[in-house]
Amino acid sequence: MEFNVTAGGLGQQHTGCTVVGVYEGRRLSPSAMALDAASDHAIRKAISRGDLEGELGSTLLLPGVPKVACERVLLVGLGPERDFAESSYRKALSSAIQTLRTTGAAEATMCLHELPVAHRDDAWKIEQAVLAVMEGLYRFDRMKSRPPQAKHTLGKIAFRVADGSQASAGEAAIHRAVAIAEGVQIARDLGNLPGNVCTPTYLADQARELGRRHEFEVEIFEQEGIQKLGMGGFLAVARGSREPPRLIVMEYRGGARQAQPVVLVGKGITFDTGGISIKPAPELDEMKFDMCGAASVFGALHAAALMKLPLNVVGIVPATENMPDGNAIKPGDVVTTMSGQTVEILDTDAEGRVVLCDALTYAEKYQPAAVVDVATLTGEIVNALGDVATGMFSNSDALAREVLEAGESAWDRAWRMPLWDEYQDALRSDVADLPNIGSRADCAVISACFLSRFTRNYPWVHLDIAGTASKSGADKGATGRPVALLAHFLAGRAGKRQPTLP
Ligand code: BES
Ligand code: MN
Ligand code: ZN
Repeated sequence: MEFNVTAGGLGQQHTGCTVVGVYEGRRLSPSAMALDAASDHAIRKAISRGDLEGELGSTLLLPGVPKVACERVLLVGLGPERDFAESSYRKALSSAIQTLRTTGAAEATMCLHELPVAHRDDAWKIEQAVLAVMEGLYRFDRMKSRPPQAKHTLGKIAFRVADGSQASAGEAAIHRAVAIAEGVQIARDLGNLPGNVCTPTYLADQARELGRRHEFEVEIFEQEGIQKLGMGGFLAVARGSREPPRLIVMEYRGGARQAQPVVLVGKGITFDTGGISIKPAPELDEMKFDMCGAASVFGALHAAALMKLPLNVVGIVPATENMPDGNAIKPGDVVTTMSGQTVEILDTDAEGRVVLCDALTYAEKYQPAAVVDVATLTGEIVNALGDVATGMFSNSDALAREVLEAGESAWDRAWRMPLWDEYQDALRSDVADLPNIGSRADCAVISACFLSRFTRNYPWVHLDIAGTASKSGADKGATGRPVALLAHFLAGRAGKRQPTLP
């Protein structure tokens, strides 16, 4: 998909389709009004027949509008004007793309970003539009024997700006958005691949490939190397699997040689059966998504490299399956983690924290400026926040604020959960230093508490993405979240973020 900026007069624009908004109550947006005036009121006539009231997400395609140069006009319902905000803007965009992809238009001119959206600037609105287009056109059909022909012919989108002086800001927004959208796509592809294809070895190969593409260092530790590092937690989870584990370390160096890096740690369980504490069968296939944290780290590194961020970023991914087996860890087993702390495994299905703790200890060697781990860690966070907000935990108020703001500016939002001392009391083991689940009830907070025992030496944020990384049901699939949040966070760290929050 190609994106560019155009500044010509709306009526004279030769394009396959011009996309303009209509608020509820048949109220035309400025571009809709301009087209209406240029076309002897063809827009108003169509609307007055009652074909579009302006309900949010509704669309009306008008071919052959007289006296304008575009082949079609796509009217998009925006809902009530006073309620129009970020979420309605995204909804209008995605409806527009769904209709556009059913047309024969090869090119479209977008005008929706002219609409006022809260305090957002043009760069933000263009970025969201690019992300919505890429999201709406995404299909995962690599596993079909005969991939269906792409139905849409759409290859080019132009964003209309009022005058040429805004063109370069628009181009910059497009460039950044495309970097993020590609990162999202990488994360979605990896997430959607089945567990028998996307194994720890496959993830390691993809990391090497990413490193080659962007010329950054990639180091892969195999079983023996992981043993030498003393990662007893990671290896304990990997014991039950025939697929060998991999510890993947990627080092993007865009900053000064001595500058402390940001470390991203991604949970890479390529399939989570639960192990001996085995999960029930319904919807178990969705546990192929248990490596979406890892996938988002790949995507964020790709985006950072494309944006050429002047920042050092390290990605660490412990990758393994969690399987039941004669050799698998059992409830009650005690393992020694890389930190030296011993862990009593009370539930083998709480495996994410057991692989992450070793990766988080490994991160210390970088003396990181900040560490962000990303993990599909608990079903509980889905009960708490659904599929809207990612759960966020932190030992640093300043870093927490930074990550929340990155989520706001990326419109890939997180919500802070508590990590208070009182919760730590749940982690008591009779035999080891700590158990891997809480004594009474375990929850998203307790699993974050567990991780916090391994992150005392640096500012740290934990993102629980179990609810946001993938969708179930009819549109089952990986979402690519929180690549956009991570990309904005990294860009902010590199001092390149555009001002978005008041
Ligand atoms: N990968 C799961 C968490 C998960 C659940 C992700 C649902 C996406 C959707 C994780 O390894 C897990 O099994 N967590 C357990 C923890 C429990 C055993 C304390 C859970 O949340 O049920
Ligand atoms: Mn599990
Ligand atoms: Zn898991």
